Amino acid sequence: MTNGLTRSQQALVHEARMARERAYAPYSGFKVGAAVRTASGKTYRGANVENVSYGLSMCAERVAIFNAVAAGDPAIVEIAVVTDADPPSPPCGACRQVLFEFGRDAGVVLGNLDGEAIATNIHELFPHPFQRD
Ligand code: THU
Repeated sequence: MTNGLTRSQQALVHEARMARERAYAPYSGFKVGAAVRTASGKTYRGANVENVSYGLSMCAERVAIFNAVAAGDPAIVEIAVVTDADPPSPPCGACRQVLFEFGRDAGVVLGNLDGEAIATNIHELFPHPFQRD
């Protein structure tokens, strides 16, 4: 259900769903799409990209975040993640730490192909980040 999501959250979920179609996941078969919206209002997409040397694989969330950062637009306001999981799958721990770096107050929307969606945020998902200061 996308009931309860704002228009911009729904739009970001749609972007993540489109991004998922570009996933390269022949080893796990688990395709993930992500999209981030930055303070500038732009959106950047990412999909998971696997490798035959499994440990080299990269999550969709980090691809999307790194796309924004590499475009010179690093202030992340919100991220949407879409999988085929029920319930919708949250970002892994590594992606939470990376999201925290660029989105200290980021909203997080978890969606799936059935149209279910859960709105949460980085504070709820990652309450005790590693910080040096
Ligand atoms: N994966 C993501 O893209 N995001 C996550 O947060 C967790 C896992 C990917 C990595 C791998 O390609 C596949 O999902 C199965 O673990």
